[in-house]
Amino acid sequence: MTRSIPNLTLVKTIGKATDILVLGLTEAGGSPALVGASPELDRGRRDAASGVLATALGMGATSELECVVVLPAADLRVVVVGLGDADVTPERVRRAVGAALRKVSALPNVSGLTVGVSMELADPELVRAAGEGALLGCYVPQKHSRTTAEPTVAAIEVVGGGRADLKSALEAARAVGEAVCLARDWVNLPGNLLQPPVFAEQARTAVRSERITVEVLDEKALEKGGYGGILAVGGGSDAPPRLVRLEYAPRGASTHLALVGKGITFDTGGLDIKPAGQMAGMKYDMSGAAAVISAVRAIAQLGLKVRVTAYAAMAENMPSGSAYRSGDVLTMFDGQTVENYNTDAEGRLVMADAIARAGQDKPALIVDVATLTGACMVALGMRTGGLMASDDATADQVLDAAESAGEAFWQLPVTEDIRQQLKSDIADMRSGGKNRYGGALAAAAFLQRFVPDGVAWAHLDIAGPANNEDQAYGYTPKGGTGVAVRTLVELARQLSV
Ligand code: BES
Ligand code: MN
Ligand code: ZN
Repeated sequence: MTRSIPNLTLVKTIGKATDILVLGLTEAGGSPALVGASPELDRGRRDAASGVLATALGMGATSELECVVVLPAADLRVVVVGLGDADVTPERVRRAVGAALRKVSALPNVSGLTVGVSMELADPELVRAAGEGALLGCYVPQKHSRTTAEPTVAAIEVVGGGRADLKSALEAARAVGEAVCLARDWVNLPGNLLQPPVFAEQARTAVRSERITVEVLDEKALEKGGYGGILAVGGGSDAPPRLVRLEYAPRGASTHLALVGKGITFDTGGLDIKPAGQMAGMKYDMSGAAAVISAVRAIAQLGLKVRVTAYAAMAENMPSGSAYRSGDVLTMFDGQTVENYNTDAEGRLVMADAIARAGQDKPALIVDVATLTGACMVALGMRTGGLMASDDATADQVLDAAESAGEAFWQLPVTEDIRQQLKSDIADMRSGGKNRYGGALAAAAFLQRFVPDGVAWAHLDIAGPANNEDQAYGYTPKGGTGVAVRTLVELARQLSV
């Protein structure tokens, strides 16, 4: 499961072992100019009598962000990528480097390459972004086959001198890049290869070498603990549900952050079964769980001084003779009762139990992450996640972290009229609203009922951005994106200082 990612190092200049050199292209000064090219570059090149810049321009290179041109093979092959003409920001660097490495990773008949990235980066945030973009751009989904392909890129060298702050920036990039790739790998696994018991064991393995304690509640422990939501949803599958709890508690931690992730390993809709077209992508329904597990691993690797507890609520939503029904009344972990409105609204039930359990640890802040509603995709499209929170200060805190990390979230309200719709005649509440309007808000309003008083809470609905059904772009591949990992790690970093 855990596969290796390219080695990432900071170098003063590229050496003899470098096979490919990635340079930037900008027109910020009025005319096209290479960023990161050294004067020696044009000397001794068989292919580029006219020089690298002229060759690149002749091949259609522009400064447009993510425009990638691969120059003809030479002793040192050059790749030129547009950096845009506005100010370079970390996210622009991440995207440009990601696009370049994605192109390099797709080159045929080569493997084990050492790729240099030279863009005159001297700021730790930009160096870190270059490292992240490179690792994320190299990601190629695992192919399930008898033969295993050698990775195209074995090592990445970022040119930036030997400064200690730049070195630790690249170490952060490695931890975060590796975590995002781990999340992507999990998300991309098909439903038959990642049922809850397997996912839980893989989570255990993934954090084994870190200072993280692991607790896995199996179906017996869930029964004993009264996790009525997780058990109801998991009851229709032959593969039993799991609740995984990870705890990272470093000495000197300043605060306590709780993370909760939706881990529906496949969502058929249950008895309220989905039509085939809508069921197709539902192996992605565990993206929230993948994100929180991967994020804790990176947070521990970085040694951030913040206590983090993470809960991954894992179940498979299947129709069967033992499946739960619409209209069922469930008693949840915290004792509240729920009239189930639709068996396809399963995510909020497993999340409610996990949020209530997370609340028992008395964290300062709970952040939950879930591919929760199609309605959120209708509202915000495929590339922006929804954010709902207990209060605006908490929302801003998470939005700030997301912006620093280069992930797109947009705040939605949890309105009083939507809360009113959760009233039930036969239980403490219903699990959904009256109709499909404001579906993302209704789901959030429901989740909030399980957050203990006095605990700040933010909810990330990643139904859109968790899975890229389009072509790859920037550092984002087709399929699982690993969204939210970077925001969660950045939030932990901001809380730790
Ligand atoms: N996992 C889905 C949400 C989803 C839909 C994620 C499409 C990614 C792409 C969730 O469990 C679900 O089925 N939600 C329903 C809720 C409805 C029954 C209230 C939805 O959004 O239609
Ligand atoms: Mn569903
Ligand atoms: Zn679902």
